[in-house]
Amino acid sequence: MAAGTFYVVGVGPGDPELLTMRAVRVIQNAPVVAYFCRHDKKGHARTIADRYIRPTTRELRLAYPFTTELSVADPAYHTRMHAFYDKSAQDISSILTNGQDVVLLCEGDPFLYGSAMYLFDRLCSTFKTDVTPGITAMSGCWAQARQPMTHGDDVLCVLPATLPEPELENWLERADAAVVMKIGRNMPKLQRALARSGRLDDAQYVERGTQENGFSHPVTDCAEKAPYFSLVLVPGRKGVR
Ligand SMILES: C[S@@+](CC[C@H](N)C(=O)[O-])C[C@H]1O[C@@H](n2cnc3c(N)ncnc32)[C@H](O)[C@@H]1O
Repeated sequence: MAAGTFYVVGVGPGDPELLTMRAVRVIQNAPVVAYFCRHDKKGHARTIADRYIRPTTRELRLAYPFTTELSVADPAYHTRMHAFYDKSAQDISSILTNGQDVVLLCEGDPFLYGSAMYLFDRLCSTFKTDVTPGITAMSGCWAQARQPMTHGDDVLCVLPATLPEPELENWLERADAAVVMKIGRNMPKLQRALARSGRLDDAQYVERGTQENGFSHPVTDCAEKAPYFSLVLVPGRKGVR
């Protein structure tokens, strides 16, 4: 029996109309959909794709063993996540070996800070693998905030707010335009780095971009802690044309 194909599909930043036609076709034809989620939640990618999943499609929940309970600095974080990705890859591998296709749903684009990459790395050399790109959270957010980002030769820098403060400051100073993701408890650190690099007044905060009740406002109006679905946009330097 021929093995199934492993499809990795980006489902965009939240609005269910922001999937590509190819993503919709692949999801609608899926015998099995897999998705990451918290143990007590439906899963963001699963929620976005809801209207495209057929009632007969089998679902494989890949529930993270923890989310914010362990720090990335803790060695146990890496050991346990490694084991979790191994087990998830094994579960998908068994289905593929039995001849069924598996569609892994991923928020935004799968290859931009996506957990999907860890399963791609484990499975792509054994199984036929097909990747469908998705609209990233940052592009959904800058469209929602009506914020043009890069002009002419502007350099765009994508930063995780988890970086040490001096590194954040250094990148923000050097880049023309920047997007800062994974904010959470790092907001005060990010605000200080934005202020010291002279970018605070231009920086725009976007929460739940393209999702229901999404909004944006200046970073100067932000609270100390930001939710998971949030990022900061620093627009380019707007060369005169
Ligand atoms: C693990 S990364 C996933 C990125 C995703 N693969 C992409 O292509 O954009 C998660 C981060 O993306 C950002 N994010 C994802 N969806 C978002 C949304 N709808 N609005 C604002 N930020 C979002 C947040 O900064 C969050 O911490």
